Amino acid sequence: MHNEDPNAVFTGLLLHWHENNPRPMPWKETLDPYRIWISEVILQQTRVHQGWDYYLAFIKKFPDNKTLAQSSLADVLKAWEGLGYYTRARNLHKAAKKIEDELGGKFPQLYKQILSLPGIGPYTAAAVASFAFNLPNAVVDGNVIRVLSRYFGLDGNGDVGILKKEISEKADKLIQLSPSSAFNQAIMNFGALQCIPHKPDCTKCQMNKACFAFNHMRTNDLPPKKKKILRKNRFFIYCLIHHKKGIFIEQRTNRDIWQHLYQLPCFETDENWSTDNLPVFLKEKMSKVSLSEKIFHQTLTHQNIFARIIVLHTDEPLETKTDTLRYSEPNNLHKFAFPKLVLNILQQQAII
Ligand code: ADE
Repeated sequence: MHNEDPNAVFTGLLLHWHENNPRPMPWKETLDPYRIWISEVILQQTRVHQGWDYYLAFIKKFPDNKTLAQSSLADVLKAWEGLGYYTRARNLHKAAKKIEDELGGKFPQLYKQILSLPGIGPYTAAAVASFAFNLPNAVVDGNVIRVLSRYFGLDGNGDVGILKKEISEKADKLIQLSPSSAFNQAIMNFGALQCIPHKPDCTKCQMNKACFAFNHMRTNDLPPKKKKILRKNRFFIYCLIHHKKGIFIEQRTNRDIWQHLYQLPCFETDENWSTDNLPVFLKEKMSKVSLSEKIFHQTLTHQNIFARIIVLHTDEPLETKTDTLRYSEPNNLHKFAFPKLVLNILQQQAII
């Protein structure tokens, strides 16, 4: 064994592990690039367990590229509701249209063409190319980086950018030695189930014999940690206005988080929860109503959002300043896509 090529040893052990650890998932039962693409984009947002139902619901609603392309953006955002990072959903819609309008409705079959679709980066392009067309494009995600960094002792000299390049080059070599689809699926599963981020059980690992991290007791510091993201704190006051015509909702239109999603009328404030900048009609009511004690919270990639609510009942006609404001009957709220934070508020208030 010691004369064998380390890369061949790695892929041999990996594929053997994969055969002994099957992990059925609905998107593995198809070679349809459209369905594989959808599953991969969903799985960038959530774990397999939660992604499973989203995938089935999405495919039921939009079973093929043409259906997705012909649907309204609002319907696509609605199907994406709760997954977060809605640019992904907008890009799915854009790419579906591009495939229909510019590529004759046929999903591209070459890596470079797949990569040129809106919202598709090297990871997704490699996943679709390998799973649908068995092309030798290696995926590089967090799992792959962790597995290869530990097994081969790659650390990019502590620089995460260099590490990613080293891993990518290594994975491109390894994938040549085995069927591409099996290799990519195996390394992702191995990273998700065995070579996990914290406290992997390396003594039971079938690949530990030649694993650099195991043999050098470096499992905890490989791969090198990313710098912590600094998140900006933002403070929102949402107004839950009950009216005989329904609940007042508005669409977010600014170039900001949650673009095009709906919410309760929202006013941004500072960490002291100042109500100085609330509109006059609300300030007049503030003697009778107050900010909720409860602070709702959602963490986004670069922002921490904190929210409190004001609940009021009025039957005065409210000025609908713009066409982005409207009433909705509570039982019609399911037609609109809301950020998770707003869904939490609506649930906590027993509106939905
Ligand atoms: N994460 C992303 N893609 C995946 C896949 N195809 N299988 C399991 N986990 C994944």
